[in-house]
Amino acid sequence: GLRKPYGTRFSYFNPIEHSNLDQLILPIGYKYDIVATWGQDLGNGEKFGFNNDFTCYFGSDPNEGLLWVNHEYIGNLSIYVSEYKEEPDGAKRTAQQIAEEKYNLGGSVIHIRKGIDGIWSIVKGSPYNRRITANTPIDLTGPAKGDGAVGGVTQVIGTFANCSGGKTLWNTAFSGEENYAEIVQDWSETPGVPALNSTHYGWVVEIDPYDPKSTPKKHSMLGRFAHENAVMTLGESGRIVVYSGDDTNDQCIYKFVSDDVYNPELGKRNSSLLENGTLFVADMGANKWIPLDLNKTPKLREKFKTQGEVLVNTRDAAKLIGGTPLDRPEDIEIHPRDGSVFIAFTNNIAHGNYYGQIFRMFPENNNHESTSFAYEIFIAGGPQSGFACPDNLMFDQVGNLWVCTDIASDKINKGAYRPFRNNGLYMIPTEGPYRGKAMQFASAPVQAELTGTWLAPDGETLFMSVQHPGEESVDVNNPTSRWPFGDIPRPSVVAITRQS
Ligand code: FEO
Ligand code: CA
Ligand code: CA
Ligand code: CA
Repeated sequence: GLRKPYGTRFSYFNPIEHSNLDQLILPIGYKYDIVATWGQDLGNGEKFGFNNDFTCYFGSDPNEGLLWVNHEYIGNLSIYVSEYKEEPDGAKRTAQQIAEEKYNLGGSVIHIRKGIDGIWSIVKGSPYNRRITANTPIDLTGPAKGDGAVGGVTQVIGTFANCSGGKTLWNTAFSGEENYAEIVQDWSETPGVPALNSTHYGWVVEIDPYDPKSTPKKHSMLGRFAHENAVMTLGESGRIVVYSGDDTNDQCIYKFVSDDVYNPELGKRNSSLLENGTLFVADMGANKWIPLDLNKTPKLREKFKTQGEVLVNTRDAAKLIGGTPLDRPEDIEIHPRDGSVFIAFTNNIAHGNYYGQIFRMFPENNNHESTSFAYEIFIAGGPQSGFACPDNLMFDQVGNLWVCTDIASDKINKGAYRPFRNNGLYMIPTEGPYRGKAMQFASAPVQAELTGTWLAPDGETLFMSVQHPGEESVDVNNPTSRWPFGDIPRPSVVAITRQS
């Protein structure tokens, strides 16, 4: 097999082949443990949620730490929860089923430890173990807080549709509320369930995993749209910069730049930097970031009276001032060596873009605060490159790009997507003789997507979600996947390590 000349222990592997087996397949010499699985008891009366997505490890100890995990959407949860029965007239689910769904979305903080046997597991009953759900009170910050555009509230109820995310410089988690609109509509159509105000969702949520009593925050300065993620870095003058994509056909990419500079000595109090600054949208034709700010871009006054209104209606505001519609921007990550910005565009089937591509953006003068940039296509998906529909991105410590693919469950192994088989995880060197060559590291179980990869600080463990296995199942007794335990499919977080 091929041995890669770059990287950490995770970069030297013999690539696997595409597969359609109902297994999580890894290269020879690697194994996985199930760290957390849907419904698992956390030892404090709480249970691990459904459809785990983004994972983020906290702590400098590579063998024990906290893991933040997003729980994105319902999918086939409904057919596994109690009392489910499909009404022939297409009636919606019961209030009790909605209550179970609300509990199963949001996120989990789990305290995890690697045992002397080398196996990662949850520290049951740890005071850090916590669920954030669609019922958790969350503070709103920034210009939309108390604005008429959100009904004048300063706190909202719950988070859901939590897709990917990021880590702040002060060790809290970002969680992106992505496809909230469908869930708001679905729940609001159920008799006996109070309707939700959709302007309370579609934000980036900040969670402090170290303080189980802390109230999470939704930062309105980062805009309201289908947030895939939020990745933070520093500009030249020390301001914080946060990039985020709006994962919907023909939507935009954004970045936030704070007014004030980051001060490491202030620790978590730096969170207030996210309350004052400027949100920009990318004009890919002019290679410019345009401010979504009433004072800096007066054209916005044609439609909006307050900055809160601009942020609540980020998409409309972006289109008004020339934000470029793109092919479903997914994850954004920053190259650890040169600061270039990698953006996954997963596909835009309506435009005939089936395979997606990954852009590499170069901020002017290598300064993330700059309002100008250049960009190139780093790699396009397709039969030539061997992968399709890039979604989550991760860099390892030496700058290899890791790419999870997200071919939709109902399209896997069909038509244009047949050659790629199940979804997977690929490593792509960004320099050297293997630059731009995608090498497959993992193959997902049937109808699953691999998401949320995160390396432990010593680079010896790769955490990853296996999301929505058996997503096309319609019969609880005959699911399309039985991963991982042979009964019904259970979304789970795995820890991948080298076999000793
Ligand atoms: Fe939830 Fe854009 O993937
Ligand atoms: Ca997903
Ligand atoms: Ca995603
Ligand atoms: Ca996706």
